[in-house]
Formats: sequence, C-alpha cells, structure tokens
Amino acid sequence: MSVIVLGIESSCDDTSAAVIRDGYLLSNVIASQAVHEAYGGVVPELASRAHQQNIVPVVHEALKRAGVAKEELSAVAFTRGPGLMGSLLVGVSFAKGFARALGIPLIDVNHLNGHVLAHFIQTEGEENRVPRFPFLCLLVSGGNSQIILVEAYNDMRILGQTIDDAAGEAIDKCSKVMGLGYPGGPIIDKLARQGNPKAYTFSKPHIPRLDYSFSGLKTSFLYSLRDWLTDDPDFVEHHKADLAASLEATVVDILMDKLRKAAKQYDIKEVAVAGGVSANNGLREAFRQHAERYGWNIFIPKFSYTTDNAAMIAMNGYFKYLDKDFCPIDLPAYSRVTM
Ligand code: KG4
Repeated sequence: MSVIVLGIESSCDDTSAAVIRDGYLLSNVIASQAVHEAYGGVVPELASRAHQQNIVPVVHEALKRAGVAKEELSAVAFTRGPGLMGSLLVGVSFAKGFARALGIPLIDVNHLNGHVLAHFIQTEGEENRVPRFPFLCLLVSGGNSQIILVEAYNDMRILGQTIDDAAGEAIDKCSKVMGLGYPGGPIIDKLARQGNPKAYTFSKPHIPRLDYSFSGLKTSFLYSLRDWLTDDPDFVEHHKADLAASLEATVVDILMDKLRKAAKQYDIKEVAVAGGVSANNGLREAFRQHAERYGWNIFIPKFSYTTDNAAMIAMNGYFKYLDKDFCPIDLPAYSRVTM
C-alpha cells in the first residue's frame, strides 16, 4: 500500500503544504508573504497572522493538486523548529488537529534536516540524482550557515556553524544599508553578475575549526561604505554592481574555504548545498569549480527547493514514517537550533 504524507511548513514567512507518495512529490504549494517588504525584514507578528489566513487554503490546494483525498493520507509531517515561535505554532497546531481528526500519525521534522533531505525528493518522470552517504551538506539560509555531516537520513551532525550572523543575513543587511531592498540575496545576485568581484576587498574572518563568522564582513562593509558615501553621496548608485560582486565573492570564499577544509578533514567528495542562499549563482559556480578541481560529486538543489517549502518536510516525514518514528500530540514547537 502507498505511503502518502502531507507536509506542513510555517517556520518563517512562507506557508507551505506538500504531498508526497512513496517518495515522489505530488504537489508543493507555497504562499509567500509580501506584507514584510515594506519593513525590510520579516515582522514576526505579521508572519503568524498571515500563516493563520493561509494555512487552510494552502493545505486544501496541496491536496487538490495532488489528487489525494484527506482520508487517503498516511501521516501528517510538520516543521517543529527552529523558526519563529508564532509562525511555527500555526503549522504545528494545524498539523496536530488535522492528524488527530483523521486518526493518523503525526511526525515532527527539524527544518534544517528538511533542507538537507530536499536532495532526495523525486518527481514522476524525472529521476533525480541523490547523494550517497556519508556526504557533506553546506546549509546556508537567512538564519543558518552550517556544515553538516550526513551519515544517514536520520543521522546528521553539525561540524561547523556560524558563531554570529548567517551568510544570508549578512547579505541582506549589506543590501539594506545600500538601499537596494529586501530580501537582499536575489538583488545582490543579479547585480553581481554585472560587476567586478575584485573591485573591493572586505575583511574575512580568522576563526578556528569549521565554524563561520559573518559579522566582521558586515561591519567592514558598513565602515567602508560610510567612508565612500562621505566622499560621494551617489557612490552606491555608481558602483552598486561592483559592490554586490565583491560582497558576494567574499561570502562565497568564506563559505567554500571551510567547506573545502571539512571535505579534506573527513575525506568526503560527495558535497551538497541547501537553503535559501544556495540559489546564489556565484555559490553555484564555486561548487561547479570545486567539482572540476577537487573531483567533488556535487548536488545543487532545484531553485524551488532552495527556499522554505513543505516538499522537503513531507520528504523527511516519509523517511520517518518508514522508521515508524512518530511523535506524541503534546510535543511543543522550538525556536532555537537543535539537531
Ligand atoms: O532558506 P531561506 O529561504 O529561509 C530563511 O532562512 O529564512 O533563506 C533565505 C535567505 C535570505 O537571506 C535571502 O536573501 C537568501 O536566502 N537568498 C539569496 C538568494 N536567494 C535567496 N542569497 C543569495 N543569492 C540568492 N540568489
């Protein structure tokens, strides 16, 4: 009999629901929240209110597109954390109520594991290459920058992570001070394609082990920009492509330096990238160069699986279902990173 899992994701500002049957994705519906644009960042209270409005229609649409009746579902998987507590609560509460009403198991999913296992999502008629265990995954998003050693679907270990800002957060903040808009990642990416990555140098961190730090880069960017703007108030307007290209190149260098170190230390050549920042063209290109130069077998997700989505949550739920790894109904959401 088929295993059909409904996945629900509401950890930040995207309400998403997806249906997976036997590891194959049937639908993945995402309602993004434009309400935050005016504020230059996600406003938690507005996010949870928007989730409340979106959750029922998004789940309804996901089931409809999948051609699955709710009575056919085997389990409901939901993002338990990390994320914004008010946002998580909407998805968690909905999932609990839905599973209880249908009398089916409930499966909690760690959002970060979800990003990693997005590499295993299959779609009908389009067989996807999947990484072999053990592999390394560089998980880069607005809230996290981590190097993860993935030994099995349910066995992951964080080898290194940011001690301050995340890569995406640093890019977003630099974009904001340049007045380029929110979220900065896609804007910087687009501008960087027309600029010279060697035009400016910003400071790079020197911290031990496999950990990251991005707050020094952010500060060095801000101070440099302040000096340039004092000399020329139109500096950003005249140099934004070079600024974006140089900023992007620095972030990518910082990320790849530690990832290379991890690959060497653990003698692993299967290397994946995941999370919102994995949409970045400079980072994707760096992965391709590393594949050529160091013989890495690389895994870069489809654009639709880079940002928050419920397909990856449903996929995680599917693997946990096979292990009969269900959770009790009183399991609370959590906002901080654990794995
Ligand atoms: O994984 P994600 O969707 O969720 C959160 O962590 O909230 O990641 C969002 C991050 C943001 O910082 C955004 O600016 C960044 O991913 N991002 C990008 C690109 N697209 C999204 N950063 C660089 N280049 C991109 N093309």
